[in-house]
Amino acid sequence: MDVGFWKQRWKDRQTGFHLAAVNPYLISCWDFLSINQQATVFVPLCGKSLDIIWLASLGLNVIGVECSKIAIQAFFDENQLNYQQAKYNNFTAYTSDNIRLLQGDYFSLVSEVIQEVSVVYDRASLVAMPVDMRKRYVDKQNEILPESVKILLVTLEYDQLLMNGPPFSVSQNEIMNLYQNRYNVKQLLSNNILDAEPRFKQRGLDYLNESVYLLEPK
Ligand SMILES: C[S@@+](CC[C@H](N)C(=O)[O-])C[C@H]1O[C@@H](n2cnc3c(N)ncnc32)[C@H](O)[C@@H]1O
Repeated sequence: MDVGFWKQRWKDRQTGFHLAAVNPYLISCWDFLSINQQATVFVPLCGKSLDIIWLASLGLNVIGVECSKIAIQAFFDENQLNYQQAKYNNFTAYTSDNIRLLQGDYFSLVSEVIQEVSVVYDRASLVAMPVDMRKRYVDKQNEILPESVKILLVTLEYDQLLMNGPPFSVSQNEIMNLYQNRYNVKQLLSNNILDAEPRFKQRGLDYLNESVYLLEPK
């Protein structure tokens, strides 16, 4: 599940995770964060998600990180946004008004690049990684982000014995273990979405819970 794997997925157009609309959980749960309008939101492993457009439309500054150049160029092209491109730290930065997408490896991030961030919107990053990598992912986030950040997290849980990832199953227990040292963890909702996901039903799953968590610093 290194960046080479994901770049190839974008090349092969195997991007079933991409939603054709803004994630409804982002819209319904955003207000739980009580964020002021000048805030900067970090969207790790952002793909070409329309959630970035929604966040930017609130007037927020959005910083995304994505390893695939194909994904980033598709994001700007499909949303008809002009952008400037420049080398920035270990990344290529693509900037359009209040949106900045950094193309490169999340694990190469350093704190200067995202120090003004006060909130993280994270959909489907943890489920993109096997278990040992998920721990490294959260360690990295703790290393580079200010301690005061709040996080809105969207994950999936299913019986991992019935299917190989990605997407990987991430249990509520694991979320607690990963985040509870630093955050108060609250599950805002959890819905079984299997009926709406025939491709996962076909792969033998008997449930597929999509959950949203609010993480607030202790
Ligand atoms: C499951 S997708 C989720 C995309 C997006 N959050 C969404 O909701 O559509 C995971 C994304 O992370 C990117 N990715 C995976 N590992 C990465 C890494 N180490 N650094 C940067 N991007 C990465 C992949 O290219 C892919 O677009």
